[in-house]
Amino acid sequence: MNTFATVQTAVGYTILFFVFLVVVAYGLVNARSGKAEVGSEVATAPNRKPYYSDAILETKRLDRVLFMAFGALAFISVLMPMYWLREPGRQSSQVKAHDRIFQVEGEEMFGNSTEANPNGLGCAGCHGDKGVGGIAAYTITDTAGRFLKQVTWKAPALDTVTLRYSRSDIRYILNYGRPFSPMAAWGVDGGGPLDDQAIENLVTYMESIQLSPKAAQNQVAAGVKKEMEAADKAGHPYASKGEALFNLGYYADVAGGAYSCGRCHTQGWSYGEKGPDGGGAFGPNLTDITGHTPRVGPTEKRAPTVVAPSVRTSPTSPVSSPAPPQVPSR
Ligand code: HEC
Ligand code: HEC
Repeated sequence: MNTFATVQTAVGYTILFFVFLVVVAYGLVNARSGKAEVGSEVATAPNRKPYYSDAILETKRLDRVLFMAFGALAFISVLMPMYWLREPGRQSSQVKAHDRIFQVEGEEMFGNSTEANPNGLGCAGCHGDKGVGGIAAYTITDTAGRFLKQVTWKAPALDTVTLRYSRSDIRYILNYGRPFSPMAAWGVDGGGPLDDQAIENLVTYMESIQLSPKAAQNQVAAGVKKEMEAADKAGHPYASKGEALFNLGYYADVAGGAYSCGRCHTQGWSYGEKGPDGGGAFGPNLTDITGHTPRVGPTEKRAPTVVAPSVRTSPTSPVSSPAPPQVPSR
């Protein structure tokens, strides 16, 4: 599954094998020299044998022991760095292996609960297989909890969810759900059944099914066309591409409305009874947005600052004079 870990294991087994060899060799040598003692009682006691003379002990014997020690040292000093060098690879492959486990478990949880998949939570039942977007049955009640009507609520595609949110944003949504929508609070923090690890599994799985930004852009471009045609057919043609984009997925089926603004900013958008565009729902009212939000950004029509002409004439010339004070244009 991961090569680093198997190489690491192989190095470990090699060391173990050498240690084993040394132990066996030592045992053999010992057993042999033990045997040699039999019959030598005359010169020394049975459990004794004459040791090396000083001359041998301090030359040949000492040299041999030192040489063996040097060999062992060399062996260790080569193997330890090898072990150490492999360590980062081993660790990162462990992380990957765990991510893979999270992903597989997340995939099971995301699916519908069946006999073959007892861990299924049914995310796919609303959001579609592989999170391509879908619909959810939902009951709308009044403030006292009394039944008002049964609707079909658009469930946004989740195969672009990491393009919209950070990992921690997604964790938050899963923990607390979307109030007043079919999306329940799943996390323990929000009163649901899933612990942090389960939430992590789901997020890791969703990460694994994400479209590339390019693919998402293509989906939007094709979707806007589809949406405008569907609106024409429904007898409510859009005045602009921007309006279609704001409502992307309302008339046509485009990623469960995931790309639209209306699903959060327009009352009733998600169940086909939309009020005035941007009238405010989960997201704030946008109908007076230019009145209270300063416009910023490089494509700004109302230039935010004025730069003295002397500095502007040649963009490549170094600016020698101190920067002029910046004056608002209006
Ligand atoms: C009963 C249907 C239903 C189920 C089951 C369900 N969801 Fe949802 N989910 C929705 C709907 C509907 C929304 C959009 C709510 C809204 O209109 O704001 C949503 C929103 C989300 C969002 C936010 C997406 C966005 O772009 O705003 C995420 C993430 C999400 N769901 C993940 C999950 C996961 C993971 C599961 C399984 C544990 C799950 N959902 C189960 C219906 C469902
Ligand atoms: C998942 C729900 C959601 C979607 C989809 C969404 N918004 Fe929002 N939007 C919000 C929320 C919630 C806020 C308020 C955020 C805050 O106050 O921190 C907000 C704030 C805003 C604001 C600032 C409003 C103010 O008064 O400060 C603008 C402008 C805006 N959204 C435009 C858009 C546009 C345009 C789109 C579509 C491209 C869009 N939104 C899609 C939920 C959403």
